[in-house]
Amino acid sequence: MPIPSVQIAHPVAAGLRGTIVVPGDKSISHRALIFSALCVGESTIHGLLDGEDVLATARALRAYGADIRRDDNGGDNAVWRVNGVGVGGLMPPGDILDLGNSGTGARLLLGLAAGHGVTSVFTGDASLRQRPMQRVITPLTDMGARFEAAPGGRLPITVIGRNTLTPIEYRLPVASAQIKSAVLLAGLNAPGQTSVIEPRPTRDHTEHLLRHFGAEVMVDDDADGTRHISLTGRPELRPQTVRVPGDPSSAAFPIAAALLVPGSEVTIRGVGLNPLRAALLDTLRDMGAVIEESNARTDQGEPIADLLVRAGPLRGIEVPPERAPAMIDEYPILAAIAAFATGRTVMRGIAELRVKESDRIGAMVNGLQALGVDVEELDDGLIVQGHGGPAPARQGVRIETEMDHRIAMSFLIYGLAAQAPVTVMGCEMIATSFPGFADLINNLGGRIEGSE
Ligand code: S3P
Repeated sequence: MPIPSVQIAHPVAAGLRGTIVVPGDKSISHRALIFSALCVGESTIHGLLDGEDVLATARALRAYGADIRRDDNGGDNAVWRVNGVGVGGLMPPGDILDLGNSGTGARLLLGLAAGHGVTSVFTGDASLRQRPMQRVITPLTDMGARFEAAPGGRLPITVIGRNTLTPIEYRLPVASAQIKSAVLLAGLNAPGQTSVIEPRPTRDHTEHLLRHFGAEVMVDDDADGTRHISLTGRPELRPQTVRVPGDPSSAAFPIAAALLVPGSEVTIRGVGLNPLRAALLDTLRDMGAVIEESNARTDQGEPIADLLVRAGPLRGIEVPPERAPAMIDEYPILAAIAAFATGRTVMRGIAELRVKESDRIGAMVNGLQALGVDVEELDDGLIVQGHGGPAPARQGVRIETEMDHRIAMSFLIYGLAAQAPVTVMGCEMIATSFPGFADLINNLGGRIEGSE
């Protein structure tokens, strides 16, 4: 069933209650497919995110010659089976590769394509075609690949890859796991050591999964927090089983709903809590949230736990800017939460948000202001004045979400606890990362409805 484009979130009187599982981690899902496609033999992936972004990556990998099948074991327990082509084995794709809305898919696959002697043309939807790609073109060009990009280093992009790239040592100019991963993926088919230096560590799923598939990856931390990651090229990746944990960035939405709707008590099972992803929980706890972790375990290098979230009062804080990389996708929902807290919440050091699926600073400021919240826009962040209770929802406002799934979900959650219903446009984009979002929230007692 297609997701209705216009949705209305109604304030709910009774608390949200229940136990849920959120969809598989988007970052890990892309990587699990890519590394499986680089093995000769069959890998199996459990819990893969069935969202549009990941399906676009699967389609591109099929075009490169991988055999990717979804075994539908009656719906929720689908297993994906991937028979790959081996490192260095990509076939010419034969058609343009459309990565839809997915920056991760586009940037990681540009890295992969750069290290193979094939020519590929990448494009995406109107949002993705606006996003900066020069950040991966620069290091991949240094390694020896050639690119033709639309003005501003944007998609559509033609990449002429090479079977033998030159390994480089690359210092990330912005904290970005996508750039790191693009360089490492190119380095897979380069002889010798490809290194990435991160002044501020970013999510390390690529490193964990590369090791899981048998590559040699060395990681060293300097005393000042700088991280050096080094990959030995031309490994023989071996087929594996991958279990994808629940996506902490998706869990952020039911967590927020449970905190904001009075009387709520919600358990979310099996959430990935990689420390380079999970800083929203630290921030919410600093704001006074009660979130209990249980059943903590580590699976394939990724920490996982069940979360129990209870509604309660929150206070505004200054979010430490150094936390940004570890909660970069959670600022939209945090800005929505902040409107319900007591006092100001200051979010700085997040200029990267301007080049996500939308300008997330602009989109949150515009939406919150339209609803009646006092918000200040900064070049690199925003300051939200909280209402210390149900936040305003001016009548007749239709929130524009600019092709951004996380903006859409943030305002729908806001509406569940606001003074009046909130109407959100462009909700079809939620399918990129969280198919079943409205049903899952409604099963807890929420009220998100499609509108004509
Ligand atoms: C991602 C990295 C982050 C994040 C994106 C997923 C990844 O982007 O915002 O949603 O899977 O590597 P950047 O690396 O550009 O910060």
